[in-house]
Amino acid sequence: MSVRQIRIMGDPVLREKAQPIPAVDEETRRLIRDMFDTMYDADGVGLAAPQVGVTQRVIVVDPHEQDAKPLGLVNPVVLKFSDDVERGEEGCLSIPGLKDIVERPAEVVVEALDGDGKPVHIEADGLLARVLQHEIDHLDGILFIDRVSPLKRKLLLNRWQKVKPE
Ligand code: NI
Repeated sequence: MSVRQIRIMGDPVLREKAQPIPAVDEETRRLIRDMFDTMYDADGVGLAAPQVGVTQRVIVVDPHEQDAKPLGLVNPVVLKFSDDVERGEEGCLSIPGLKDIVERPAEVVVEALDGDGKPVHIEADGLLARVLQHEIDHLDGILFIDRVSPLKRKLLLNRWQKVKPE
């Protein structure tokens, strides 16, 4: 069990664009294991590598839905977004204390590699679709507060000044 430190908003690493992993190896698998440990330790449903200070394109997700298994994904890409959108509440382990409703495409098709370097194809809806989009956003330096209206973002950032960890 190896829990890594979660970076908090304001840390520049969260705004960097993460790099693709050229070849999945033992180091990648250790990163995925540590990210699962870190996510479960923090009671999260998803985590992206930049949140533990690693600028590589790796995410882990486990929305705890029936028949959804935990996924550790390398170089994930959204191939298709649905036209229909859904509104749902989001938070982020890097922005503790803030939550808001975010509108996103309701369904996505994602391709990635698994921890063995094998291709994975995922057709997701519901919470899994939301978590996948949230985590893949992290790989491009995008946070959920960037996905709300400018007015709501202003309110969230004001609140952040009061609740952010020292
Ligand atoms: Ni997040």
